[in-house]
Amino acid sequence: MIILHLLIPAAGSGSRMKAGKNKLLLNLNGESILYWTLKAVFLSEKVSWVGIIGQPHDRSEIINSIKEFAGKINWINGGNTRQESVRNGVNNLPSNAVKVLIHDGARCLIKSKLIDKCFTELEENDAVILAVKVTDTIKVVNENRIIKETPNRNFLWAAQTPQGFLVSQLKKAHQIAKDNSWNVTDDASLFERLKWPVKIIEGNSTNIKITSPIDLKIASLFLGNS
Ligand code: CTP
Ligand code: MG
Repeated sequence: MIILHLLIPAAGSGSRMKAGKNKLLLNLNGESILYWTLKAVFLSEKVSWVGIIGQPHDRSEIINSIKEFAGKINWINGGNTRQESVRNGVNNLPSNAVKVLIHDGARCLIKSKLIDKCFTELEENDAVILAVKVTDTIKVVNENRIIKETPNRNFLWAAQTPQGFLVSQLKKAHQIAKDNSWNVTDDASLFERLKWPVKIIEGNSTNIKITSPIDLKIASLFLGNS
């Protein structure tokens, strides 16, 4: 069996949360957001190596907020964008890393069973992402907000994390992106641009990304009921 590694981007500033600090350090039902993410990660049967990608100035507060897991994580310094943070993470994986899952620290409602499902699919595929079917009707607009088109919803999926990749390909994709100044908000986008196939795994709509204050309230309810 291949050893599977998992990287957690946690180096953002949480500007949309407007809390004046990294949102992953905010309190959610008595623990930090990042604590809940790690709790799910370490409940996974398949996780063997975990890296947290964070800003150096957040390091002590992050470690303090996830004390229970502090001895089991590896620290990697993040960059100015998520893309740069993941690139640092991938370039600092142990040399035996063959496949890696990337899971945003901000998706703290992830279920460990879904992490396991991603790992299992990743054993058979070189690139996979968790996603859910879009339930709203989506409009594509121009710069004046005039609707240009309504894509067929049957072909629309909302991307989540974990996203998993063959390490050698992910490294290459990030290097090409850097050399060509591509800016993307997830790692699958790099593969798409390179015309490398990425398989979708159906996820769960409760796996929200904590982005704005309302998400904290929703997450608090979900955690309270799980
Ligand atoms: N992230 C990162 N490095 C960055 C920016 C973001 O590792 N330079 C991480 C965040 O910590 C988060 C994930 O990428 O876990 C998804 O990013 P997002 O939800 O956009 O978080 P922030 O960038 O912190 O929030 P905002 O965009 O509102 O500032
Ligand atoms: Mg961001």
